[in-house]
Amino acid sequence: MTATIGQCGVKKETDSHLFFYFCTFLFLFFSLSRITRYDVATMCGIIGYVGTRPAQPILLQGLRRMEYRGYDSAGMAIFDSQGVFVQKHQGNVQKLASSLPSTPMEGRCGIAHTRWATHGIPNDVNAHPHTDCHEQIFCVHNGVIENHTKLRIALMKRGHQFRSDTDSEVLSHLIEEAWRREQSLEDAVAYALKQVKGTYAVVISARDKKDFLIAARQGSPLLFGVCEDHSLVIASDLSAIADETRDIIILEDQEMLIGTQDAWSIRTLTGEKKDRTTQRLLTDLTTVQKNGHPHFMIKEITESSDLLRMSIAREKSTQEIHARVEAQKYRWLHTTRFIAVGCGGMFYNALIASQGFEAIAGIPSKAITGSSFRYDSLIVDEQTTVLFLSQSGETADTIAALRKAKGQGAYTIGITNVMGSTIAREADETFLIAMGPEISVASTKAMFGTIHVLSELIHAVASLRGKNHPEILNALEQIPDQLAEIVAKRKEIADLTKKYLTCSHALVMGRGYEEAAAKEGALKLMEIAYLPAQAFHSGELKHGPLALISDQTFALFSIPKDDVYEKNLSNIEEVKTRQGKVIVLTTKETEEAQGIADDMMIIPKTISLLQPILSMCALQLFAYAFAMHKGYPIDQPRHLAKSVTVE
Ligand code: AGP
Repeated sequence: MTATIGQCGVKKETDSHLFFYFCTFLFLFFSLSRITRYDVATMCGIIGYVGTRPAQPILLQGLRRMEYRGYDSAGMAIFDSQGVFVQKHQGNVQKLASSLPSTPMEGRCGIAHTRWATHGIPNDVNAHPHTDCHEQIFCVHNGVIENHTKLRIALMKRGHQFRSDTDSEVLSHLIEEAWRREQSLEDAVAYALKQVKGTYAVVISARDKKDFLIAARQGSPLLFGVCEDHSLVIASDLSAIADETRDIIILEDQEMLIGTQDAWSIRTLTGEKKDRTTQRLLTDLTTVQKNGHPHFMIKEITESSDLLRMSIAREKSTQEIHARVEAQKYRWLHTTRFIAVGCGGMFYNALIASQGFEAIAGIPSKAITGSSFRYDSLIVDEQTTVLFLSQSGETADTIAALRKAKGQGAYTIGITNVMGSTIAREADETFLIAMGPEISVASTKAMFGTIHVLSELIHAVASLRGKNHPEILNALEQIPDQLAEIVAKRKEIADLTKKYLTCSHALVMGRGYEEAAAKEGALKLMEIAYLPAQAFHSGELKHGPLALISDQTFALFSIPKDDVYEKNLSNIEEVKTRQGKVIVLTTKETEEAQGIADDMMIIPKTISLLQPILSMCALQLFAYAFAMHKGYPIDQPRHLAKSVTVE
């Protein structure tokens, strides 16, 4: 069902599609909230299948759905009566797919992996599956084996020969060795895993064990689904099994699944049997698709206005945040210092948070990256409130900062998109942004959703401290339509970028809250368009960056028509005087700006706290168009992955 709404006549997917996200959140809440530790290491995707149908297409489809987790290399092992067929390559899942037989192999049991490299460069040898000295055991792994060096040295001393540089390969050799001693493969796997320190989700099979899989986890996510024909699909991600079944079980730490064509059982590493029953997944996760868009990035930007509309209009959303702030009145009234923490794009939202909490709620504030918070000597005590911003809720540096802040007695708050994530579970208070799964590595809609929740939180805390700012809630109501208006201009933005494709460097500038937007614009240009880009407070221009202005550079200024507009115009003059190319992103086409800008992008105006939602959207569309013209992969930029779960 579709309907045409909004001032710019954008076609929107209606509630039936978007309602899916909310159902998904409900499902995840009920299933994941029971688990004490989930998704600590979400890089790489693993999958296994054992059943009555050829494994190859099922594994391949699962890998495609998990590719956002990593795409440095991909591999598959299929087991049949003839032996084991292994294909593994540097590069993405499509590269693996083209190397597989076009008529699927007969094997009804197999394992597969898509990798984001941590230990060992991305090449064919380091791709999973990994095997032992005799090519008996095959293993796919997601996580980090922290004691791998010690284990590898000991195994080598005992005569094992390693092929790869990965931490994961030690697992196959440990199991090989244990299987000589233990009666069964499952006992051998349990024995081997007990020697491992770190995180793992593994799926293992062996050449001589027909149609037999073992899976286990510690710290990394793993679940399996039972199909109608009793086949089993085991994967890191719900989306990877949702094509096959909706009856699932989420494995817990230290649990092992033993699966055959028509039976399965769960035990712990110590041998204790576990009785578990499947839960029915109520929603159709396979609908997390591009819906006709060429990339998830543009799909996610496009759907953000509707998602925000639902989120903002959600009955009692504002009252709920107020009630939760009121319930922690003592904490908020005694907060003498506020610190906002995030990594990458979310650090820019942390900058907005710190400015907002200081200017609107009147609390001395600071923003810092997760990696700095971990090691800097900050003053954090019981009167400090620390806010952690993370789309995934799994970013390693942000989690480490959260644990440190808690350890120092601070009141900790999380804003995240993923219910059941580590940050959602560990922060004293968590606010969810409910923007639905974000697949593109470049974060977009989650950035906007975070600023929305942030602004409601600032509004609630300011009210509690006697400062009323009704303009925040009034302005919020306009944001979804304003976002849709910008998205409707994406063709114009794409045309504009064409003039700048030959430039080799970009400077992106803004003041106040717009400095955060400028940083986001520069990050996206680097991340998806591979264009060296730096962001500055516009006032810093003549303190150094001006020297970079040349015919190879363009300067992009984010200057809403506000009380520092004139100052920004002076900065633009400084660039123009040096024959620099200037693009102005602003809220009103003024004569002064027209006179000096080479190009202008006009976006709607809102209050300065919320303006970055709109500026960021325009800058993301600019970077997206730039990357499109250059023919870059966009959803899977080189060297990156969606969740950065390693330090
Ligand atoms: C944003 O486009 C990036 N992919 C990245 O900087 C991201 O914002 C950062 O890694 C933080 O991720 P998180 O929100 O999941 O914590």
